[in-house]
Amino acid sequence: MEKDQIIRLIEEAQRAREFSYSPYSNYMVGAALLTKDGEIYTGCNVENAAYSPTNCAERTAIFKAVSEGKKVFSAIAIVGGKRGGSGDYAAPCGVCRQVMMEFCNPETMQIIVAKNVSEYKLFTLEQLLPEGFGAENLEG
Ligand code: THU
Repeated sequence: MEKDQIIRLIEEAQRAREFSYSPYSNYMVGAALLTKDGEIYTGCNVENAAYSPTNCAERTAIFKAVSEGKKVFSAIAIVGGKRGGSGDYAAPCGVCRQVMMEFCNPETMQIIVAKNVSEYKLFTLEQLLPEGFGAENLEG
């Protein structure tokens, strides 16, 4: 990926993180998802008093995009961290990895786990979800 594109996605994730609704964990997460045609969909974590309905930032971004007809993605940047602090690394949870598996090519999907624009780690979905189960398993 081009460095400019990575930085743009991290900045968008940082902005989205400010909208985090996380009164229970006080852990704020923002995500910025890049579609194949170059659009960016952002998301934040949205918590709930009953805890289990909580939606992660990554899934918020993915569901926003899918609900607007976008289903092919090439990258996602994620910035986490406790309220009051600057960003910290937050690798996607297992549920979010599985949701990515539904819509992304595991070999090419880039996952940018970032603290800020100069401190980030790059993974493919395949690296974070080896031997993932997907639609192909149900074919034939
Ligand atoms: N969370 C995310 O939004 N994404 C992640 O990758 C890890 C965890 C959220 C869920 C919950 O609101 C808070 O972080 C603490 O787990």
